[in-house]
Amino acid sequence: MLESARIAFVNGVNGVNGVNGVADVLERIVDERYYTLTAESHVPVLRDEAVTALVTDPDGCYVDCTYGRGGHTAAILARLSARGRLLVIDKDTTAVSDARQKYTTDPRVAISHGSFAEIARFAAAHELPPLTGVLLDLGISSPQINQAERGFSFDKNGPLDMRMDQTQGQTAAEWLMTADEEDIARVLKTFGEERFGKRIARGVVEARQVAPITTTHQLVAIIDAAVPYVDFHKHPATRSFQGIRIFINNELGDIEVSLAASLQALAVGGRLVVISFHSLEDRIVKRFMRDLAKGDKLPDRLPIRDSEIIRTVKLVGKAIKPTDAEIAVNRRSRSSIMRIAEKLL
Ligand SMILES: C[S@@+](CC[C@H](N)C(=O)[O-])C[C@H]1O[C@@H](n2cnc3c(N)ncnc32)[C@H](O)[C@@H]1O
Repeated sequence: MLESARIAFVNGVNGVNGVNGVADVLERIVDERYYTLTAESHVPVLRDEAVTALVTDPDGCYVDCTYGRGGHTAAILARLSARGRLLVIDKDTTAVSDARQKYTTDPRVAISHGSFAEIARFAAAHELPPLTGVLLDLGISSPQINQAERGFSFDKNGPLDMRMDQTQGQTAAEWLMTADEEDIARVLKTFGEERFGKRIARGVVEARQVAPITTTHQLVAIIDAAVPYVDFHKHPATRSFQGIRIFINNELGDIEVSLAASLQALAVGGRLVVISFHSLEDRIVKRFMRDLAKGDKLPDRLPIRDSEIIRTVKLVGKAIKPTDAEIAVNRRSRSSIMRIAEKLL
């Protein structure tokens, strides 16, 4: 019923009458309510800001590297002409099935399953021209976290999987059964910023000698027992789950490779738009864009004018954060930050 109300509303107000302003706001409210009500859905973060920054030419060729449930994809397509093109990528087979179900008949859309680190291979396979824009909306989607069987959530008991790509790689359970205690501690500290990583790693190794750790709640119990104090703001498993997830999916490595590959695939004037959700991701994005925008690092006191320095990109505006209004309707957006760079050479 909510969906039909939404469709009628969107068609009736925006499609037929084309009324903007209040109607847009109302549509967004209906939209957000609709999306937060279904476990299979995902509310896109910084949607309008991202798409406005990305789509500079309605006839251009774009890549949405993180399809998820297609929130950004739908908004990009709404701004493209019949000549525009969009490649969507996701590691997650459920996300790719969603894209196929929605967009197989749209001639503007191409779909690839795999890591966005392989953007160049996918763009070549679909014979795309140099790109007008690339979007990365990092992290995991709401359906991934909401579905207990994916193993991403410490709230829900399920198999300890945590793979974004269900078709390959080690699950978190497999890794925890065989990894060295020092490696587990290092992953928790480096990718989870967990200061009790060593204690938790010890707990894992002791527990696995008794029985395999196969479920999220078994791991939560080990973490609970190892962390020596109560933080009323954060569940004690938050950091460890983040760290293991980042490691299992090689998230930071994929980001580094994909930033360079995306820049390479862009046409001059094309834009790279990246939304991050925690400081480890944002640090990589910020450094990548800032270093290229600064240009060649030359020895001090070299007699060279600023205009002679070679810069590959320019930064477009400052980093963008969600408004209070967006955070009020979508709490997940609260830690997001978006950066935009434009290719100069
Ligand atoms: C935050 S969600 C994107 C949500 C999407 N923008 C939307 O509006 O529905 C991130 C998505 O990126 C995917 N993903 C994360 N890392 C990836 C990678 N290295 N390669 C391809 N997809 C990845 C995840 O599987 C997830 O579906």
